[in-house]
Amino acid sequence: MSDNLHNSRFLKACRGEKADATPIWLMRQAGRYMPEYQAVRSKTTFLGLCKTPELACQVTVEAQEKLGVDAAILFADLLPVLEPMGFALDYKEGEGPVIGNPVRVAKDVDRVKLHKPLSTMPFVYDAILLIRRGLKPDIPLIGFAGLPFTLAAYTIEGGSSKHFQHAKTFMLNDEGAWNELLGKLSRVVIDYVNAQIDAGVQAVQLFDSWVGCLGPAEYRRYVLPHTKAVVAGIKSRVPIIHFGVGTATLVDAMHEAGADVMGFDWQTPIGATWKRLGVCAVQGNLDPITLFARREVVLEKAGEVLKDAGGRPGHIFNLGHGILPGTPVDNVRALVNYVHERSVEHI
Ligand code: CP3
Repeated sequence: MSDNLHNSRFLKACRGEKADATPIWLMRQAGRYMPEYQAVRSKTTFLGLCKTPELACQVTVEAQEKLGVDAAILFADLLPVLEPMGFALDYKEGEGPVIGNPVRVAKDVDRVKLHKPLSTMPFVYDAILLIRRGLKPDIPLIGFAGLPFTLAAYTIEGGSSKHFQHAKTFMLNDEGAWNELLGKLSRVVIDYVNAQIDAGVQAVQLFDSWVGCLGPAEYRRYVLPHTKAVVAGIKSRVPIIHFGVGTATLVDAMHEAGADVMGFDWQTPIGATWKRLGVCAVQGNLDPITLFARREVVLEKAGEVLKDAGGRPGHIFNLGHGILPGTPVDNVRALVNYVHERSVEHI
């Protein structure tokens, strides 16, 4: 890795080292709230965009440059990795992702195929090569993947869900088939992420977006062993960020999976939780809804996050979950500038 990248604010913070200001990037920073994204998206479907490296590169680099954030995140999605496993994936307008042939009984797990993403999803790796060339040499690129629980939830529910009734019932009724499904997902995700690192990403974020629907005991029994296996399969190559929503009571168990950086949602108090976990670096955690408020309120709340993090080396500013459609872009830019200027007072 070049010195420029190694010494970037973002990667310093991932290692728990002091930086000249608190780095900031935002989950879903390239998305529908941004006119530039909408313009590209109007030419194709969402999956078409994910599978066209030139367009994925364009929206990734444009978002980083327009916002002035300290890292870019690969434009892709959690779910396309499921297609070569035999799942019929579609994104329906206003409904989100839909899987036409979900897993519902133990026997369905037998038809879930293993694959090598490097050859089945070449568009992801081509996009990484293009993005790395398109970004300024000191801006790190973050790769990402979904963790087995969240991926399994989609394969069983067949789409987004409020209560995860099918997924949790499957998990409780047939632990053997559950472990087999999550084991298959883990193997594919490990290959998927390692090939992203080979292609040129400088860090990876592992999303367990919906794991907050479980309690700590269930998390430890049904999820943690699989997440541990994924982290162990990619560990020590680049910093790993581990994130889920609604996880204030799960972060202690999640931390045992071994990631380098823990991502906190907005309900998790940064300072106290960081101290308790003793983790090297922490990412988060402004409530994404805050960005819809008046400018002064956005900045006041951002200031509270900086204060809670206390200037401790290793803080990466982010939202507590992804930016929502309709978020005012000017508030996002004001947030980025504020974090860069004001964090200096805290460190
Ligand atoms: O800028 C970035 O952060 C990179 C791009 C990115 C997308 N999805 C683009 C996207 C990333 C990192 C993701 C991850 C992702 N995808 C997650 C984890 C993050 C989280 O929110 O917890 C999840 C759960 C998914 C699955 C997914 N993809 C859903 C539920 C939806 C529909 C809901 C929605 O926001 O539309 C998507 C579609 C999606 N992924 C869009 C984008 C920009 C919108 C699609 C469109 O343009 O119509």
